Amino acid sequence: RRADRGAFAGRTTFIFAAIGSAVGLGNIWRFPAVAYENGGGAFILPYLVALLTAGIPLLFLDYAIGHRWRGSAPAAWRRFTRWTEFIGWWQVLIALVIALYYALILAWATNYTIFSIDQRWGDDAGAFFGEYTQALGGADATVAFDFVPAVLISMIVVWLAVIVVMALGVQRGIAAASVIFIPLLIIMFIILVVRSLFLPGAIDGLDAFFQPNWGALTDAKVWIAAYGQIFFSLSVAFGIMLTYSSYLKKKTDLTGSGLVVGFANSGFELLAGIGVFSALGFMAQAQGVAIDEVVTDGVGLAFIAFPTIISEAPAGAIIGVLFFGSLVLAGFTSMISIVEVVISAVQDKFGMARIPATLAVSIPMAVVSIILFSTTMGLPLLDVMDKWVNEYGIVAAAAVSTIVVSYLVRGLPTLRDHLNRYGTFPIGKIWMLCVAVIAPLVLGVSLVLSTYDLVTSETTYSEYPGWFNLVFGWLMAISLVVIAILLSLIPWSRSSNLYKAD
Ligand code: PHE
Ligand code: NA
Repeated sequence: RRADRGAFAGRTTFIFAAIGSAVGLGNIWRFPAVAYENGGGAFILPYLVALLTAGIPLLFLDYAIGHRWRGSAPAAWRRFTRWTEFIGWWQVLIALVIALYYALILAWATNYTIFSIDQRWGDDAGAFFGEYTQALGGADATVAFDFVPAVLISMIVVWLAVIVVMALGVQRGIAAASVIFIPLLIIMFIILVVRSLFLPGAIDGLDAFFQPNWGALTDAKVWIAAYGQIFFSLSVAFGIMLTYSSYLKKKTDLTGSGLVVGFANSGFELLAGIGVFSALGFMAQAQGVAIDEVVTDGVGLAFIAFPTIISEAPAGAIIGVLFFGSLVLAGFTSMISIVEVVISAVQDKFGMARIPATLAVSIPMAVVSIILFSTTMGLPLLDVMDKWVNEYGIVAAAAVSTIVVSYLVRGLPTLRDHLNRYGTFPIGKIWMLCVAVIAPLVLGVSLVLSTYDLVTSETTYSEYPGWFNLVFGWLMAISLVVIAILLSLIPWSRSSNLYKAD
């Protein structure tokens, strides 16, 4: 008897869940700076090209694999042929690693939503963040593994919330959370953007953001940055969209859904660019400096620049709650999609029911995540792991999967026919060209460039001790592949979903 895998009630709930996964920190704290630094208004061109030639085609590929083979990443890849199963496990392990540190960012954002009310960071947001995380930079990172109580508590809260949603299952947990949180996120974020637009200096920020630098278009790095942003932002090629589409009914329009998800995600990025640069324009004016000096991304933008803005702006508390609340909602709906990749894989392989699989996966993950990241090592670890996962993990896994599908198992014609069966519009040669040629080419070039960067070490993580990169970078990357291969060698249980009755 097979365990019930769970299912989405329909196409709409699936779309909400998929948008929930796609819209995340990448939209809010990554896109604005990437666009600004790579041509400003002119970035729209490489960005759209990347979306149409790689983002949406790979989204279709993920959907097709998950839906055609009706399984989690390892099960779906196993159904191509026996040896490709390890690709699925590789995707699962990458997702697992991301989830470990994503919880830390969520925990910070949760705390900062509360801190916003009385602007607890006082007048030096940078110093406060240092105290709050007690993060040790530089060579000090070698020694300390002390727990930071405030972070510890909020990480426990975050993981409990994740476990509850995951235990409720695909429709009552994941889909229900997305159907509530995504509209709420959109409303909160629009209010935030409109409020920011009316801050003094906002227009200068927008001018700086949209100012086109057409010369940038001849720079190969700008094009790579556009593809990189699209791959990360759409959460393609590491099992998420594949897993979600396996929960769809047989007769579902996949290509139409993919377009909705792809454009919703990009729309949210544009909105975030407008909101973030309005706020940065205000900050630059308040401090009497050029915009260029206040532009940052990631942790620095969210936890240092934004608190500063919140303190300086009229009714800053409202801006703060809206901003950090948006980070929590966007991050949480991405987090559950990442954890689902792992749960779904374990459930499929061992033929487990939902609740046991949820507990078997998420409790150990929560424990490891909390032990590693609620310590003074949290921030340095996050830095190094995030860099490696984004620049190598995701890119390498995507390159390998597109090459394997296109040339080694020759799955594209089958998948194309599958997409065309219920799709709103036909796809054919152009799609296959994007998946088989453009994507592997761009991904390959990105890998070479990041390796060059790493070797010449013009990178932020060179501030950490060498062993740190070795263990949490190289060793982690290699062990993920090795563990993936080992996992793929474990035989499937007879009651597992690989041996489906229908
Ligand atoms: N796509 C998400 C974003 O834009 C990021 C993400 C990464 C989501 C990994 C899930 C997993 O922020
Ligand atoms: Na995104």
